[in-house]
Amino acid sequence: MKILGISAHYHDSAAALVVDGVPVCAVQEERLSRHKNDATFPLGAIEWCLEHAGLEPSDLDAVVFYERSMRKFDRILTSALRTFPRSWRSFPQAIKNSLGEKVWVRGIIASHLDVPRSKILFTGHHHAHAAAAFLTAPTPRAAILTADGVGEWATLTVGHGERQSGGAARITLLREVRYPHSLGLLYSTFTAYLGFAVNEGEYKVMGLAAYGRPTMIDAVRKLIRRTPDGAFTLDMDYFEYQTTAARSYSAKFVALFGRPRHPYEPIDLETPEGRRFADCAASVQRVLEDTLVEMTRALRRETGLPDLCLAGGVALNGVANTRILAESGFERVFVPSAPGDAGCALGAALYADRIYFGNPDRNVPDHPFWGPAVDAKALARAAREDDQIVEELDDAVLIDRIADQLAAGRIVGWMEGASEFGPRALGHRSSLAAPHSSEMRDRLNRDIKYREEFRPFAPVTPLETADRYFELPPGGARLARFMSGVFPVRPEWRTRLAAVTHVDGSARVQTLERDMAPRLHALLEAYGRRTGIPVLLNTSFNVAGEPIVNRALEGYSTFRRCGMDVLVAGPTLVTKRARVPASPPTEAVA
Ligand SMILES: [Fe+2]
Repeated sequence: MKILGISAHYHDSAAALVVDGVPVCAVQEERLSRHKNDATFPLGAIEWCLEHAGLEPSDLDAVVFYERSMRKFDRILTSALRTFPRSWRSFPQAIKNSLGEKVWVRGIIASHLDVPRSKILFTGHHHAHAAAAFLTAPTPRAAILTADGVGEWATLTVGHGERQSGGAARITLLREVRYPHSLGLLYSTFTAYLGFAVNEGEYKVMGLAAYGRPTMIDAVRKLIRRTPDGAFTLDMDYFEYQTTAARSYSAKFVALFGRPRHPYEPIDLETPEGRRFADCAASVQRVLEDTLVEMTRALRRETGLPDLCLAGGVALNGVANTRILAESGFERVFVPSAPGDAGCALGAALYADRIYFGNPDRNVPDHPFWGPAVDAKALARAAREDDQIVEELDDAVLIDRIADQLAAGRIVGWMEGASEFGPRALGHRSSLAAPHSSEMRDRLNRDIKYREEFRPFAPVTPLETADRYFELPPGGARLARFMSGVFPVRPEWRTRLAAVTHVDGSARVQTLERDMAPRLHALLEAYGRRTGIPVLLNTSFNVAGEPIVNRALEGYSTFRRCGMDVLVAGPTLVTKRARVPASPPTEAVA
C-alpha cells in the first residue's frame, strides 16, 4: 500500500511516503524551496517523494493530511466568537490563515495531485504527532505525550500505544488539554516577549535560560495553574493570542514582567536589563520543565510502562526532555528526529497505514535520513568550474585527510547520503570543527553562522566513548541519538571541550552509533587518534536565516559564501583556494 502524508499551512510543511508499511522518504518543503520554515502546500516535497519512489499520483492508495481542517476552523471560529468583540481584529487574520486554504484542503490536494477525493484522508493533528513518535520508536509498548502550540483544539495529549511486529498497532489518546491552554503557546509568548521570532526563536529562549536564574518562577506560576485532574489552565488575562494576531502577551503580562525586549536590542548580560531577560527565560523554562515532569510522572504511574514517546514542538526542548528522563520514572524516552509539525507528514502516513487501514506493523528503520541524496559528482563539477581545488579520494585517505584538517583548526562542510528529516543536522548535512577552544565557537558565530553568542554549539561523539566525556544517565544515549537531550560535560573535560560546553556546563550531545552514519563515525575515530578526544563540534550546515543545505550545489554555494575551509560530499573533497592578498596601496609602500 502506498500512502503519502502531508503537513502544511501552519509552519514547516513536509511530505512523506510510506510504502508497504515502511517509510521510503520524507522531506521538508523548506529544504527544496530554500525558504526557511516554508509553510506553503508542499508541492516540491510531494513531487520529489513521488519521483524518488518512481510513482505517479495515480499509484497512491491514499493521501493523508495531518489534521482535520474543519475542526481547526471550528476552533478558530468558536474562539473568535467567544472573545468577540475583542477578537474582531484577529478574526479576519485567522480566516485568511485558515479558511482561505485549510478547509479546502481536500480540494487543493485533489486538484494538485489529481487523485479522487475518496482517497484523501485526514488524521487528528495530535494523532499524527503521536504516530510520528510511537510508530517509529523501537519499542512495542509505550506511554505517549504530545505537546505543541495548538493543532485543532488539542495542545497536549497523553495516551499509550501498543504494536506487535507483523500484527496490529494501536494508539490510544486518553485525555487532552485544549486551546487556549497550551504549554507551547506559553513558551512562545515568552519567546515573543523576549524579542525572538515565534516558532523559530524558542531555541534561543532555551539557550538564554542557562545564563539566568529562575527568579521569576512565582510570576510565571501566576500565568499557569495546575488543575486537580493533573492538567493545567492558563490565566488568559495575561495573554492576547486568542484575541489578536498582533501580540501574544497582554498589558497585564507587561505589568508583571516589565518592558518587553525589542528584537534589535542586544542582550547585554552585564546590565540589569540583560540579566532580567535571561532570568525571565530561565523562569519560564523551569516552569515548563516542572509541568512536564509532573505530567509525565503521573503518566508513568497511570500506565506502568517503562517507555515514553514524546512529540510535538515542545519535545524539541532538550533540557526539558532530559529532566523528564531523570525525574518521571520512565526508563527510556523516545523523541523522533522530527517531533514538530513537519514530522506529522510521516506520522499521518504511518497512522493511516497501521490504524486506519489496519495493515500489519513493521519496524521503522531507526535513523533520520529520509531526504534527497547528495550528488558528489555535481559538487566536483561545480567546484572545478569555479576553479577550486577538487580531489576525489578513497574513503580511508579522505577520512584521514579531513581528520588532519579538523585537528589543524579548519572548518569542514560535511555532506553525506540522504539528508536528515527534522530540524537538526545529525551527521549528513553538518558543519564540523574542533570542539576544544572558545575561539572556534566565536569564529563559527562570526564567519559562518552569524548568530547570537549565547547559543551553544553541539558535540557529536561515538556512542562507545560518549560516557567518558559526558554524564549520560541510563537512557541518556537513546535521547542523545537524535540530539534530543542536554547532558553535563564531565567537569574534567570542560576546558578541552570549551566550544561545545554551554555556560552551565551542559551540551546537547549526539551519541553516534556506527551503523547510523559509518563515515562520520570513522572520522570521529580518526580525529580521536590524532587529538586523543573523539569529539567534534557538529552544527547544521547553513548560514543564519537559511534552511539547512540539501543538494550539492546549495552546499557549494554556502561553502563559497562563508568562512568554511573544506567541503566534502561522498568521495569529493573541495579545498577553498586561499585568497590572494590584495596589493597594498602605493602610498603605503612608499
Ligand atoms: Fe503540532
